[in-house]
Amino acid sequence: MGQVLIWVGLAVWLFLQCSSACKLVCYFTNWSQYRPAQGRFLPENIDPHLCTHLIYAFAGMNNHQLTTVEWNDEQHYKTFNGLKSKNPGLKTLLAVGGWNFGSEKFSNMVSTPGNRQTFILSVVDFLRKYEFDGLDLDWEYPGARGSPPEDKQRFTSLIQEMAEEFKEEAERTGKGRLLLTAAVAAGKANIDEAYEVKNISKTLDFINLMTYDFHGSWEKTTGHVSPLYKGKNDTGPAIYSNTDYAVRYWKSKGAPAEKIIMGIPTYGRTFTLSSSETGVGAPAFGPATLGPFTREAGFWAYYEICTFQKGATTKRLEDQKVPYSFKEKEWVGFDDTQSIKTKVEYLKKEGLGGAMVWAIDLDDFSDLFCSQGKYPLLQALNQQLKCADAENDGPSANATATLVQTTPVAENLTSPTTSPPPVPTSTLSFTTLPPIPATTTNATNSKFCRHKANGIYAVPGDQVMFYICANRHTFRMSCPEGLIFDYLCKCCNWP
Ligand SMILES: *[C@@H]1O[C@H](CO)[C@@H](O)[C@H](O)[C@H]1NC(C)=O
Ligand SMILES: *[C@@H]1O[C@H](CO)[C@@H](O)[C@H](O)[C@H]1NC(C)=O
Ligand SMILES: *[C@@H]1O[C@H](CO)[C@@H](O)[C@H](O)[C@H]1NC(C)=O
Repeated sequence: MGQVLIWVGLAVWLFLQCSSACKLVCYFTNWSQYRPAQGRFLPENIDPHLCTHLIYAFAGMNNHQLTTVEWNDEQHYKTFNGLKSKNPGLKTLLAVGGWNFGSEKFSNMVSTPGNRQTFILSVVDFLRKYEFDGLDLDWEYPGARGSPPEDKQRFTSLIQEMAEEFKEEAERTGKGRLLLTAAVAAGKANIDEAYEVKNISKTLDFINLMTYDFHGSWEKTTGHVSPLYKGKNDTGPAIYSNTDYAVRYWKSKGAPAEKIIMGIPTYGRTFTLSSSETGVGAPAFGPATLGPFTREAGFWAYYEICTFQKGATTKRLEDQKVPYSFKEKEWVGFDDTQSIKTKVEYLKKEGLGGAMVWAIDLDDFSDLFCSQGKYPLLQALNQQLKCADAENDGPSANATATLVQTTPVAENLTSPTTSPPPVPTSTLSFTTLPPIPATTTNATNSKFCRHKANGIYAVPGDQVMFYICANRHTFRMSCPEGLIFDYLCKCCNWP
């Protein structure tokens, strides 16, 4: 009996272990196609095996409906979503909004239930038409930049209504449910203004926390774009401007750790120094020279930083766990493979759902600049996360091979056409323990865990079967022959 209990506990434990810290969400930007020469990046340049989720940034909105932005977006959507034929586990999402998009159109759209409905229906049509697997809301930010305070609640309503429609559409059509995610602020003041954290976290599939742009050339002293921790010299509101604070703040407001995807930049933010000081907090006035490829003030791609580093001094901030480089009057804070390792250790320790990268086109994607192989930062992330080939809520390390093929089903529980979801027995077979005999799950029962805490539950009216709920996924299990499920010990027991 004891051993039976252990199997079940272990199955749940293993599944939870495997399903945490394993998303690698990568943004692709529609404007990278306009970078010159070796900076030019198209969907066909994307390695389909580097990320678990790819997000196309950005789509726009007109008359409260989702729209394309670029003349050739449609063609790019096709290539982008075509990457799934090379990696069937890969999920693609379309992001709407972004910094330049501002708040106004979002604000008008959420202002009435009718406008929201118009948007939501257009989203479903659009995503299905172009074969995306979900939508990423990039409203920067509800309640800010011309959006009134009540947009905080309206944003919640939008998310709830959209999730409901996604669910119903999946049930109606038998297709896998569309994913709903959001890119959210990491600054304390914006978080307070913009989000009912608990409500939206409950409904979103995951949360792309934009833990970067904490400092940049809009400030009068040098600071790092994405410090992991508070700096020793940070005082006042500056103590909030780091990844660790943002992660803990989202958690403290009720976001489940496993839904938080921690943002890591593949770019740096630059400054021009205005004194002989060269550290963090050194006087600065404005950005450094434009990057030759990205040509955006105060912003260099990782591959541009590699070029800059030749002849520059590179130091590490021991308190903030990130590097910076300077040469003559120019200064840049950024992430490298070493800081990425530290950040992944951190996000695992915090039990987060994985890492998000802005953006795939800013890494040294063709190994022309850094001499670290193609995609050095994304490769480092992959190695540290051990997500390897794309999956969703999925597996890592040893379990990858078995769970990968079944995982897509896990997010498509509403679909009557899907095959049975993964059963932890496959995970167990990696251990020396005998597998738990388990039956399959049918579409009706598979919704059992949708709103349940992780754990083991009785199957009403059945003595032999039980459910394991893990991250909202349902596993319908059967006790070994001769045993029945005992709800007191949540184990299989002798009758
Ligand atoms: C890419 O998408 C944004 C956002 O919505 C849009 O404003 C922009 O014009 C697009 N293209 C370029 C080249 O920036
Ligand atoms: C968010 O949750 C709070 C607390 O449960 C609730 O009072 C509020 O109405 C919710 N907001 C929306 C827009 O549903
Ligand atoms: C903190 O400030 C002092 C005094 O300005 C400076 O010497 C020191 O380098 C700073 N430390 C860090 C970690 O920025």
